[in-house]
Amino acid sequence: MHTTVGIIGGGPSGLLLARLLHRAGIASVVLERHDRAYVEQRQRAGILEQSTVDVLRHCGAGRRLDAEGLVHDGVELRFAGRRHRVDFPALTGGKRVTVYAQTEVVKDLVALQLAEGDPLLFEAEVHAVEGVDGDRPVIRYTREGRESTLTCDYVVGCDGYHGVARRAVPDGASTTHERTYPYSWLGILAQAPPAHEELVYAHSGRGFALASMRSPEVSRLYLQVPNGTDPADWPDERVWDELDARLALNAEPGAALVRGPVTQKSVLPMRSSVTEPMRFGRLFLAGDAAHIVPPTGAKGLNLAAADVVILARALSHWSTTGSAELLDSYSDTCLRRVWRAEHFSYFMTTTLHVDPDQSSFETRLQLSQLERITSSPHAAAELAENYCGLSL
Ligand code: APR
Ligand code: PHB
Repeated sequence: MHTTVGIIGGGPSGLLLARLLHRAGIASVVLERHDRAYVEQRQRAGILEQSTVDVLRHCGAGRRLDAEGLVHDGVELRFAGRRHRVDFPALTGGKRVTVYAQTEVVKDLVALQLAEGDPLLFEAEVHAVEGVDGDRPVIRYTREGRESTLTCDYVVGCDGYHGVARRAVPDGASTTHERTYPYSWLGILAQAPPAHEELVYAHSGRGFALASMRSPEVSRLYLQVPNGTDPADWPDERVWDELDARLALNAEPGAALVRGPVTQKSVLPMRSSVTEPMRFGRLFLAGDAAHIVPPTGAKGLNLAAADVVILARALSHWSTTGSAELLDSYSDTCLRRVWRAEHFSYFMTTTLHVDPDQSSFETRLQLSQLERITSSPHAAAELAENYCGLSL
């Protein structure tokens, strides 16, 4: 089999790229190792920047997003017994974000691709990518027990942090910059109304907590926990009690979350990582295959969408003019945005979490920084602009 663009991975990056290429009249094949149900149920963040919403609408995946997405004009910060709202439109000249789960974005893109796109092959496990420094790279994969090859003009690794694409880059041709964090998140999905009408990011001496949502009936809640935490050590009542303790305010003694059945519970590690450049020969990396952020600030999906928009434009330019100019600048163009989001995610993470080794001096610095955001429109605007994202 031959195609113009071979895409490894059917997560948000691979699916959106395939969709954008289809609209540009460029053939592609997506190879995804898991089955459809697995890909559609994987829980991830759920905050879309305006530019991500615009791209999804533009490529025909906006119908359910427009009907069910919740537009949010701000977030609340809670710390030291205080609450402060960051008003996005007022601070950014009108920007806002949309709450719409990544699972739903993936379902919409899968349905479109299967209905009218190029091949999207589930349960197709890629084990090697060869010849990316030549003219005709080859992807080797196994499906239904059979080994097959896909030759391509270009290969795009959209296969996430643990994917195979990155391994096709020879040693020494790329550099990975990484940071791990001394804590993880315990996340639950619950049939319970959201804690507040907007997202709440809470700093507390007991650790960070985040109250997010999926709909007016479904909450998504997170607690900072030590690395290596077993979700089995966190029965539902313990999770709710800890959320109450961390999200509570001195001003509102006894204020408690409305509890409901917990339908999902898992522990997520926190890591920052960037591999650069994001291109080697005819291989491009996009989304989590090239970079990951800790979830504080919800940048992962938005960065993935930005990468594939930039790549689809570059491939379209190459296909219509024969010029590789935009393909050559792909990595630099993406990395400017990637490093900004890396810094923001790191800033949000380290300002709001309690490092088990942190001194009282460092805690005072965190509180001073949060205080600054509540008292200076410049500091608040810096947070709001980064949260709402750069224009594409
Ligand atoms: N062969 C085929 N598919 C593979 C292989 C392989 N060898 N290795 C990985 N995959 C698939 C995975 O099964 C997964 O579906 O690649 C896909 C990668 O998807 P994601 O990890 O979701 O990465 P990406 O599409 O870049 O999405 C980025 O997801 O991790 C979140 O926060 C992140 O929201 C961001 C978004
Ligand atoms: C989520 O809703 O899952 C979410 C929201 C905001 C974040 C991280 C995760 O910063």
